[in-house]
Amino acid sequence: MSHKKVAILISGGGSNMVSLLESMTGDHPARPCLVLSNNADAGGLAKAAAAGVATAVVDHRPFNGDREAFEAELVKPIFEAGADIVCLAGFMRVLTAGFVSQFEGRMLNIHPSLLPKYKGLHTHARALEAGDAEHGCTVHEVTPRLDDGPVLGQARVPVLPGDTPDTLAARVLVQEHKLYPAVLRRFAAGDKTPVQLAWRLS
Ligand code: GRF
Repeated sequence: MSHKKVAILISGGGSNMVSLLESMTGDHPARPCLVLSNNADAGGLAKAAAAGVATAVVDHRPFNGDREAFEAELVKPIFEAGADIVCLAGFMRVLTAGFVSQFEGRMLNIHPSLLPKYKGLHTHARALEAGDAEHGCTVHEVTPRLDDGPVLGQARVPVLPGDTPDTLAARVLVQEHKLYPAVLRRFAAGDKTPVQLAWRLS
């Protein structure tokens, strides 16, 4: 069985990346081929290396805001690894249309809100400010418009009395770690039927 190769892009601790790595075993149709970061101090790099996955770093800072030049370097390790699918997992650089077009239909992202609500940053604080009773996360295909592509899965959480952005973020992260692997397994098998996860007290 030839497995789809998955490159995962991170900027930080990489807890979503770890949940993806741990899921790609047995009869899963994909295997990780690379964990790539724009931040050499990203805690997730050591976790990926410990799991035996190749890692690479392309620091965006030396490019002084020249995104095209940064991205011209960023694509190299992805192509060299022969990635079929690219997963953005806490990757905090906004990508240009030129970069996205090279991976059209095979690049995914996880976003901590129930899109199309709260595109961009500070999603948990915004959900609290709005008085929402429900919140969650979304995995979507990446298209040139930020946090806008076709939804491949959503997971919901209740907003509880006394919640702060941190307590809400922690509850959403539990669902992220279930949703992203579930979506990737389907997507790698060629199935784009959206995954829906409800909140279950474990
Ligand atoms: C997650 O909440 C993800 O939705 C957001 O950034 C956070 C990254 O967490 N884009 P981690 O690095 O995967 O732990």
